Amino acid sequence: MGSTDFRLFATDLDGTLLGEAAAAARFKRVWEAQPEGKRPLLCYSSGRLLEDVQEQIANGLLPQPDYIIGGVGTAVYDVAHGRLLKQFTEVLEEGWDRETVEKVLHNIDLPLEKQPKHFQNAFKSSWFLDDATPEQLDQLQAALEETGVETHLVYSSRRHLDILPKWANKGNALRWLLHHLQIPHDAVLVAGDSGNDSAMFRLKGVRGIVPGNAQPELLAEVAGMPLYIGPPGEVCAQAVLAGLKHFGVLAVADEYEV
Ligand code: GLC
Ligand code: MG
Repeated sequence: MGSTDFRLFATDLDGTLLGEAAAAARFKRVWEAQPEGKRPLLCYSSGRLLEDVQEQIANGLLPQPDYIIGGVGTAVYDVAHGRLLKQFTEVLEEGWDRETVEKVLHNIDLPLEKQPKHFQNAFKSSWFLDDATPEQLDQLQAALEETGVETHLVYSSRRHLDILPKWANKGNALRWLLHHLQIPHDAVLVAGDSGNDSAMFRLKGVRGIVPGNAQPELLAEVAGMPLYIGPPGEVCAQAVLAGLKHFGVLAVADEYEV
């Protein structure tokens, strides 16, 4: 597959592009060196809220993307036109009731701690739950189901718990964006390191990059998929660059060592 065959690269930030400063800077240089029109569209998909991602870009840490999926797939932003794609937000409203969700979380007998306000949005209720067992997650899922509100429960890095509307999560948001852009799944490459990324990898037809520092919960979900998996010492953006090279995405590959 040649460099122009991939039309969109969707990548997580923390633990994937960010986390190893020199490699992140190298990714920015290499990405910006690719001739425009030859490189795929770039989409960041982060658990961070949109404003937070925009701040990282403004700080010069990351190249300008074409799209941003923020808040674990609860907001889709078109960078060139400077606007939120509101049609997606409308989809999320279906069957979502944040108040009911929060009541369940407040009342359930689990050692939960609510994440600070600046991690919450209208469609993302986020908590800390350290070293959750499958039984605890099942217990929570059952309590949520009992209310009739359809939710997605996303657990990452043995600590982060996100309760999202049924049409949210990084995979559904990306699926929606691909449909909106009329890009087929087999022209898409994704990258991520933890549980909240697994829904992107599960989109049928996409290929993926997993850095050497990936969390076991992601590795367990993506076994057998068409992936580039970085060896243990190849972390964050180092592995992203190696993966892009592996999939032939970089038209200009000579300027750097991966
Ligand atoms: C990011 C978000 C946090 C979320 C986590 C996992 O760290 O800031 O709110 O729980 O990603 O999705
Ligand atoms: Mg991550």
